[in-house]
Amino acid sequence: MIQVFKPWYDDEEILAVAEVIKSGWVGLGPKTAQFEKEFAEFSAVKHCVGLNSCTAALDMALKLLDVNHGDEVIVPTMTFVSTAHAVAYNLATPIFADCDEHTLNIDIDDVARKISSRTKAIIVVHYGGRPVDLDRLKRVAGDIPIIEDCAHAAGSRYKGVPVGGIGRIGCFSFHAVKNLAMGEGGAITLNDTALAERAKRLRWLGIDKGTWDRTKLDRSYWWEYNVNEIGLKSHLNDIASAIGLVQLRKLEAANARRREIVALYREGLRGVERVIMPPEDGGDFESAWHLCEIKAQRRDDLSLYLRDRGINTGVHYKPIHMYRCYGNRTMLPVSERIFPTLLTLPLYPALRNSEVEMIIDTIRAFYEQH
Ligand SMILES: Cc1ncc(COP(=O)(O)O)c(C=O)c1O
Repeated sequence: MIQVFKPWYDDEEILAVAEVIKSGWVGLGPKTAQFEKEFAEFSAVKHCVGLNSCTAALDMALKLLDVNHGDEVIVPTMTFVSTAHAVAYNLATPIFADCDEHTLNIDIDDVARKISSRTKAIIVVHYGGRPVDLDRLKRVAGDIPIIEDCAHAAGSRYKGVPVGGIGRIGCFSFHAVKNLAMGEGGAITLNDTALAERAKRLRWLGIDKGTWDRTKLDRSYWWEYNVNEIGLKSHLNDIASAIGLVQLRKLEAANARRREIVALYREGLRGVERVIMPPEDGGDFESAWHLCEIKAQRRDDLSLYLRDRGINTGVHYKPIHMYRCYGNRTMLPVSERIFPTLLTLPLYPALRNSEVEMIIDTIRAFYEQH
């Protein structure tokens, strides 16, 4: 079967993990500090704090902004459930906004309609890697802090600037199938030093000095620390960070290959009227192309047809206000209309041109027969 996603690993990641295991320090330690430094540089921000997932990063971002009971946070409905769950974890109310039909990013006009006196933050997702129009959003948001969910967007740039540092806090995923894949991992990126320091305590139960910080170069260590605030256990570890450091060096090449594959799909599916490709990127909107999400007529029939011929596809996403836990109450017409057409085509750096051609031919054959 051709998979929808596949991490891009080789011996380098294996050697990096072996080195960490042999070093005797596999928890939160020097590799994580190195990854944080390099990822902050890559993202053009002052601070990166490594966490164990993007879900944890979103939760952390809301805690840093003191979001709590009685607050509202505007979130896109067209996203993975984590984006809204993080709001619920903090006892606040997610207010769902509709999507832009063309980009599938949050509809900024709908955000404007949904801002109230209780709005404490706005979370946006750079959907599939395509940056949200952050300047326009900032004009609408005014003083309300923007959290960028960059789970799909490691390497995306808005007006030439890496995403993750344009809003108040960026949240990244390094989950197994993301563009920068560590197995599990995440991070927040930000320019506010006080918030970054608080995040470093909160990710480690509120303890003011982690074990590595209390360990000297000769590995002698002293036990004493303080806990002023109750925190989580959500830090990144050195095994994952070692993989991440290798992946970070490969990221630009991996994203370039993703872009090449999307161009092949675009060329190969040209003229297939019942398929709409995602908008081209470039200019102000440079995508990391985490997803190649097409709009396809007879989506489920096409997906089954492809599966029967050895090609897996996915759907990203069912609008999350349609899940029972979010009540299925709000009417968000664009998302509800578009969702039944969405189909994620296989996209990962190791996907061969011959496989892309086979996928294109199979899609064409489906529409000729149906
Ligand atoms: C938009 C979005 N936000 C958040 C997450 C959560 O990431 P993680 O699996 O690292 O918690 C995902 C995961 O796929 C995602 O797609």
